[in-house]
Amino acid sequence: MNGPFEAIKVSDRVYWVGAVDWDVRDFHGYATSRGTTYNAYLILADKPTLIDTVKAPFMSEMFSRIASVIEPGKIQYIISNHSEMDHSGCLPETVTAIKPQKVFASTIGAKTLEKHYHAGMEIAALKDGDALSLGNMNLAFVETRMLHWPDSMFSFLAEEGVLFSQDAFGMHLADHRRFADEIPDDVLEFEGAKYYANILLPLSPLVLKLLARVPELNLDIKIIAPDHGPIWRKDLARPLKSYERWAKQAPTRKAVVVHDSMWGATTLMARAVGEGLYAGGVDARMVKLRASHRSDAVTEVMCAGGLVVGSPTINRTIFPTVADFLCYTRGLKPQNLVGAAFGSYGWSGEAVKQLSDALAEIGVGMLNEGLRVNYAPDSETLAECRKFGLDIAARIVENCGG
Ligand code: FEO
Repeated sequence: MNGPFEAIKVSDRVYWVGAVDWDVRDFHGYATSRGTTYNAYLILADKPTLIDTVKAPFMSEMFSRIASVIEPGKIQYIISNHSEMDHSGCLPETVTAIKPQKVFASTIGAKTLEKHYHAGMEIAALKDGDALSLGNMNLAFVETRMLHWPDSMFSFLAEEGVLFSQDAFGMHLADHRRFADEIPDDVLEFEGAKYYANILLPLSPLVLKLLARVPELNLDIKIIAPDHGPIWRKDLARPLKSYERWAKQAPTRKAVVVHDSMWGATTLMARAVGEGLYAGGVDARMVKLRASHRSDAVTEVMCAGGLVVGSPTINRTIFPTVADFLCYTRGLKPQNLVGAAFGSYGWSGEAVKQLSDALAEIGVGMLNEGLRVNYAPDSETLAECRKFGLDIAARIVENCGG
């Protein structure tokens, strides 16, 4: 299975042997506009060990990279840190091809891998705090349940200080450059935040618990090697601080005006609301859902102080793209937001009340009953929209300490 792909050295005896998916643009509903990587790692210990595998169609790329440093059949252990299919998709075939002495996963991972693949793989279960000798090196395991799935765990290679963190501290970013310090800062910030907002946001309380646990784990971490995107080998405080900031979601002087429109009336309202927010001292980000993907909208929402949503009424309900955004956002559970709803209507006008109820259900602190405009706004109603934005801005500024 040799090919053109080579392993990339991460530390003295650890190699990246994953795959780059340049083309993926949809990751279970998340727009991966820069593609992604599926990171697998090879530890050249006395017992050569593979950490995670890759999505099934990329198996030959992984094998090619492994074969550039070791004959794949020499791998004795495989560790599955996370059973989601982007990391375990080719695990059954890899086990068949390599015939390792043992495959390991967390207690829950051992069960879920069988439920996914029904492959009859013998998987040894590891618990939180367990250690595994690789001969001349040692792995320690930390259960990280629900980060991202119940089966998730971290593996730590003490001798080289490498933390294999599966989804955590990762991002969807296809690139030939393997290390975060080679990637422009703005790309790291944007893609890291987008990944957190769309994958980990609802699990923020668990992220904070894990971050609080880091000192007591007493791991001398030199490298953080996630399962997606670049590897962190410098300034490790950066991803940790970013996770703390994103998990806390402290309100900021930023509001996101998310809306869609049938014939442009609700867009006119949105623009006037945005002008009012900005005039009131708030950075207003305008997101029209037929121009922006839900996963970009929710990334903007993550570190905002306000969420203002607009929809026309169509067939007595909310416009479909707005309903999709609300459904997606409800699952991601953003915190510490205030907001309001608005929209144009012709004759029945139910959408604004439905939007308000949906936002309240998400946990947004609703500031008013919402603003409706019959048919298209005129200069007077646009002035009302601007005032609506100004009033919301005042509350956001107040929530941020003035
Ligand atoms: Fe990258 Fe939760 O899988």
